Amino acid sequence: MQIITDPVQMQDVANKLRLNRQRIGVVMTMGALHEGHLSLVKLARESAGTVIFTIFVNPRQFGPAEDLHRYPRPFEKDVALAKSAGVDYLFAPDVESIYPELFQTTLSCGALAERFEGVLRPGHFNGVATIVTKLFNITKPHTAIFGEKDAQQLAIIRRLVSDLNMDISIVAAPIVREENGLAVSSRNIYLSSQQHSTAGILYQGICHAEKRLAAQEKNLGTIAAEIEAMIISAPGCRPEYVSFVDEATFEPAETAEAAKEYRLLLAVSIGSVRLIDNGKFRT
Ligand code: PAJ
Repeated sequence: MQIITDPVQMQDVANKLRLNRQRIGVVMTMGALHEGHLSLVKLARESAGTVIFTIFVNPRQFGPAEDLHRYPRPFEKDVALAKSAGVDYLFAPDVESIYPELFQTTLSCGALAERFEGVLRPGHFNGVATIVTKLFNITKPHTAIFGEKDAQQLAIIRRLVSDLNMDISIVAAPIVREENGLAVSSRNIYLSSQQHSTAGILYQGICHAEKRLAAQEKNLGTIAAEIEAMIISAPGCRPEYVSFVDEATFEPAETAEAAKEYRLLLAVSIGSVRLIDNGKFRT
């Protein structure tokens, strides 16, 4: 595995790979690697001869009150994990090379970025869209793998690629979970062991939705309200949003129609830690 920190060198390597007819798959991360990130590498490998893995804690997607400065950065450990996962190139630029002094162009996402996470994190998805576009231009992938864990981010990236005619195929990776159903996340380290076991409530909510839909409940608002009540009754848990959306449009959905896909989106605060999760359902 070759480590590259300079964007110009990375772009040069990507250009040469393309000239040699190599298919490039990219996996983008902010580091603090875990099983979820590594599952993306496996998927990238299925459609690409060369896997480029990026680690960059992107300041432009963090709000002023968020955890940019305490975000975990265990670089040496990440290098070892990326290498053992079979990554070919690890691209880990510094902030100055990605956002030099005169940098001023940013992407502006539409309505999709203003709901759910966008309400609580204004500007977050514009920051994500901008860095993802920059990393696409630097690594020149044929395919890019993103996790369903961040379902709204995935929907926004699909929109971005389609709206701006980017010739990149986006692959969605299923959510990797811990034993109690908690979605694996770099931020899970902020949870105490008590909070960690309480956090299983998000997955229990998703399982509840699965059961209720299988029993032909059509009122999605009713199911969401039941899940909110479950979360409120768990110690120290506060639901921020619990909503069903139409999987095709990400528009809020109130009634389940036959033969359609819906996604349940959840954001829950446990103490000072925010967790997001989601589940996809076919009626
Ligand atoms: P990060 O949170 O590090 O996540 C990197 C990728 O890993 C994302 O595509 C995310 O959805 C995926 N991922 C995280 N946890 C997962 C899990 N439990 N199962 C499956 N996939 C999982 O998302 C970002 O970084 C950033 O916003 C980024 C896209 C890199 C832009 O800065």
